Amino acid sequence: MTKNQKPWGGRFEASTEPLVERFSTSIEFDRELARFDIRGSRAHTRMLCSVGLVSQDERDQLLNGLDQIEKELQDGTFPFDAGLEDIHMNIEARLGKLIGAVSGKLHTGRSRNDQVATDFTLYLRETNLLIQEKLRDLQETLIQRSQEHIDTALPGYTHMQRAQPVRLAHHWLAHVEVLHRDTQRFKDLFKRLAFSPLGAGALAGSTLPLNREETSAELGFDAPNVNSMDSVASRDGALEFLADCAICAVHLSRLAEELVLWSSSEFEFVELSDAYSTGSSLMPQKKNPDVPELVRAKSGRCIGNLVTLLTVLKGLPLTYNRDLQEDKEPVFDSADTLVGCLEVMEGALKSLTVQTGNMLKAAEDPMLLATDLAEILVREGVPFREAHEVIGKLVADCLKRDLDPTTLSLSEMRKFHPSFAAPAKDLISLEKALELRDGIGGTARSSVEKALITAKKRLKED
Ligand code: ARG
Repeated sequence: MTKNQKPWGGRFEASTEPLVERFSTSIEFDRELARFDIRGSRAHTRMLCSVGLVSQDERDQLLNGLDQIEKELQDGTFPFDAGLEDIHMNIEARLGKLIGAVSGKLHTGRSRNDQVATDFTLYLRETNLLIQEKLRDLQETLIQRSQEHIDTALPGYTHMQRAQPVRLAHHWLAHVEVLHRDTQRFKDLFKRLAFSPLGAGALAGSTLPLNREETSAELGFDAPNVNSMDSVASRDGALEFLADCAICAVHLSRLAEELVLWSSSEFEFVELSDAYSTGSSLMPQKKNPDVPELVRAKSGRCIGNLVTLLTVLKGLPLTYNRDLQEDKEPVFDSADTLVGCLEVMEGALKSLTVQTGNMLKAAEDPMLLATDLAEILVREGVPFREAHEVIGKLVADCLKRDLDPTTLSLSEMRKFHPSFAAPAKDLISLEKALELRDGIGGTARSSVEKALITAKKRLKED
């Protein structure tokens, strides 16, 4: 048997079974961490020099080697080797080829355990900011489209049944509220991703005089993580990231479902642009909403990825266990999925046509004014439950006689309750239904205008 050539192969006689190598390698996915690994190694190198563990000349050799590797990674010439397990050992081995024995000093006082935790945290920080940016773009588009449609009325729904009329701006601004909270969740998580694991070593710190504050500051963290065991064992930052992604993806699926429904012939409330639709290979007349359908479906991945990592962590004893290598694919997948969903939703919303006439026709359904009629009686002092019952009867009667309740005369109205003071058409209308709801969070023009101002201001501050 050939001697084990791995960087950790000192105590090994035999080399690793190829099957085991294939089973345990992570290089196919953790190459995503390459940039962060180099950043971490640069910080570690400088710190080793400032505490006197490597000379200035050695430091420069190490940094030059890392620069060279960075270039190779950028122009796609880096020779990845699946036999070297992961990105950390690939980079270390390459450094050895480039600068020789001095490369062995890079791993001084460092373990792959604190190294991978550092790389992963740096990845989470950067990706968190990218997602915040995409969330902002989507909110901006929704706000912009709301602004255009402040006077577009449509039915608001409960139980997927027409309920009460609302402004389209009010409807879309509801989604903006949700996306704002999603942004806040990512922002809040950022605070917990602020502590550097680097210098924790394998699990217990180092006998060497490492300066954790220096590497922490250089990498942009607020401070070193205070417990070396926690540094290498914990993945709750990743877990929370997955939870935030899952929540946001589920929110996007709801917005997406509305686009699917609204673009159907049954609704015809919106038409997706050609650029954001697809045709059928068989039915020439079809224009399909594949983009929102996929957004609706992809939320499933994000939920699954969260459950995957929760399951990996459940019952896992301190500190590092190889199980933790399974933290990366779910996180990378959720991040890519969510960024993609945010981007296509933004494009779909920006480019869709609102069929305002169809929305208005649906909003003019007089039955949507039934609550308003009940509230007219409330204003006359009738208890709401009684008013509800009265209007229920009035609605039933109109349905039976195929009558529009807004055409009822005063005397017809009074058959249902003596407190009515005017014919229905003077009491209720679509316009009144929208404009009387002028409290905080209501659908009146003035309330929606205020909401638009708040949303825009908030976005600027974010
Ligand atoms: N590829 C490993 C991971 O992603 C790196 C850490 C390996 N550490 C170890 N002690 N085997 O978790």
